Amino acid sequence: MAKRPSEDLRIVLLGDEHDRGSFACGVESLGHYLQTQAGQDVRRKANAVFILSETGEPTRVLGYYTICAVPISQGDVPEMARKHVPRYPLVNATLIDRLAISKDRHGQRLGAILLADALQRAFGTAKTVGSSMVIADAVDEAAASFYAAHGFVRLPDSLRLVLPTRLVDGSAER
Ligand SMILES: CC(C)(COP(=O)(O)OP(=O)(O)OC[C@H]1O[C@@H](n2cnc3c(N)ncnc32)[C@H](O)[C@@H]1OP(=O)(O)O)[C@@H](O)C(=O)NCCC(=O)NCCS
Repeated sequence: MAKRPSEDLRIVLLGDEHDRGSFACGVESLGHYLQTQAGQDVRRKANAVFILSETGEPTRVLGYYTICAVPISQGDVPEMARKHVPRYPLVNATLIDRLAISKDRHGQRLGAILLADALQRAFGTAKTVGSSMVIADAVDEAAASFYAAHGFVRLPDSLRLVLPTRLVDGSAER
């Protein structure tokens, strides 16, 4: 999971300069969200939305993800994560709700780069604002497979996957 953006890629917060209108990743709801809802979510601090683009063409959206803080109930914490999280009725987590790459750029490791950036941000934030898990809500089975291939563990009968923060930031050994 050590992929980092190369020098010709940049990942920045969504801004007015980004051309969102033409973004299509193959899942209509994810394109629709970026075009109609993302700006408002950012203004209202409901989500942070990060945009992947090329340094030489910064307005063109190659991909995006959303990230926010959520509480989840203790009963929804999967077995494998229980020893890594507190026993409170509600456990703080960081949610990657959406992550998408432009359809014409699939299979070029951009999804892996974007996910690595989201995880790095989640773990960095957890150092100052407590968060015991990263959660990914997959849009469909293919998306769930993508997250599972990156170490997330799927909850039964659900498109939700989790990754305990301690397992990835190395603190599980301490
Ligand atoms: C899922 C998605 C983000 C992957 O992006 P991508 O740039 O094509 O993927 P990458 O090239 O970075 O692939 C990285 C790794 O994930 C794996 N992978 C990619 N898509 C996968 C899938 N659907 N199922 C399982 N593994 C997948 C690749 O095989 C690769 O594995 P490797 O590291 O062993 O070689 C992209 O296909 C997409 O935007 N899909 C539509 C929206 C979507 O499903 N979003 C998911 C979250 S809601």
